[in-house]
Amino acid sequence: MDFIDRLVFREEEIQKRVRDLGKEITSDYAALYGEGAEVRMVSVLKGGFIFLADLIRCVQLDVTVDFMAITSYGEAAASSGAVRIEQDLSMSIEDRFVLVVEDIIDTGLTLHYILRNLRSRNPRDLRVCTLLDREVRRIAPIDISYRGFEVGEEFLVGYGLDYRQKGRNLRNIYTVKTAG
Ligand code: IMP
Ligand code: MG
Repeated sequence: MDFIDRLVFREEEIQKRVRDLGKEITSDYAALYGEGAEVRMVSVLKGGFIFLADLIRCVQLDVTVDFMAITSYGEAAASSGAVRIEQDLSMSIEDRFVLVVEDIIDTGLTLHYILRNLRSRNPRDLRVCTLLDREVRRIAPIDISYRGFEVGEEFLVGYGLDYRQKGRNLRNIYTVKTAG
């Protein structure tokens, strides 16, 4: 882990924010769609899986989960927006309340593509929850309903986010020594 540089978010701070997001999601969906509302939480692999695992345990509604894997052409740190679905959802989302759970939204190009694709499957509701929002780099506009933290341009690792596939298991979030 010699790539770790500076601590940005400590575990306790992340967990507290995740609990608050869970409460917000619970009360919003219950208010809009009733206590029995079932939320389909969709995670985009691989980065979002740790956040999803923690978040679903902070949501007091019927939750179902599904996963999608995509391949971006080019470097992960410099997304081109050219995306291919490598592993599709296992269930239909037609008429469902879908909440896409992301680790970080950078340029927004990946998610823009995914949302367009999901929207064409006619969900009843489609929202976005992201732990980290790097708005300064946004190219494709994304309507974010739930956001954990706003972050700057520095590349981050930990809590699901990788640096060259490593560091996802770190409990805190750090900057990396070699940018990109
Ligand atoms: P976007 O298409 O530019 O919004 O970036 C999409 C994906 O790139 C994110 O969901 C992450 O998986 C990855 N990514 C962007 N920034 C970082 C970072 O700082 N650390 C780790 N992964 C990142
Ligand atoms: Mg991601």
